[in-house]
Amino acid sequence: MLRRALLHAPDEPFVSEYPGDDDPEALHLAGYRDREMVGVASLVPEPLPVEPGPDEWRIRGLAVEHGHRGYGLGGLLLDRLLDHAAAMGARIVWGIAPAAAYGFCFRYGLERHGEPLVDADGTPLYRVIARFAPAR
Ligand SMILES: CC(C)(COP(=O)(O)OP(=O)(O)OC[C@H]1O[C@@H](n2cnc3c(N)ncnc32)[C@H](O)[C@@H]1OP(=O)(O)O)[C@@H](O)C(=O)NCCC(=O)NCCS
Repeated sequence: MLRRALLHAPDEPFVSEYPGDDDPEALHLAGYRDREMVGVASLVPEPLPVEPGPDEWRIRGLAVEHGHRGYGLGGLLLDRLLDHAAAMGARIVWGIAPAAAYGFCFRYGLERHGEPLVDADGTPLYRVIARFAPAR
């Protein structure tokens, strides 16, 4: 429900599952405060559309509930996703972020990439990506 509440416009069709959720190598995380789930984040194998190749992983559904932001949970979740990507031998990790999240993304090494995309409600979004050094 956090995916639905925080990452999609109210009039968008119901979305609670994303492609790749069931992949055995996907990672799904949740952060709790006082037994309430207040943050979610997932990482699934998915090629970057403009540069498709092997070992490309996508961040999906990274969100922290209003009122629980700014306390380090989003960063903790993203750190864990990036650790998982590195452990899986990722070359690229990418996601789609609204302008309000760029500063957060840059802080974790994800840089804006390519042309802007436009959300269903007209909000500009950008792909953000981080490249990993090839394993030796
Ligand atoms: C983006 C989001 C997940 C951040 O979660 P959060 O729990 O508030 O983030 P944190 O408290 O862990 O912040 C981690 C670091 O990023 C920084 N940061 C957080 N949001 C930021 C922003 N919008 N701009 C710049 N820096 C930001 C924090 O200052 C902190 O830096 P520090 O460690 O030097 O103090 C949250 O704002 C959110 O759910 N946004 C809506 C959903 C969304 O945009 N998801 C897409 C993410 S790619």
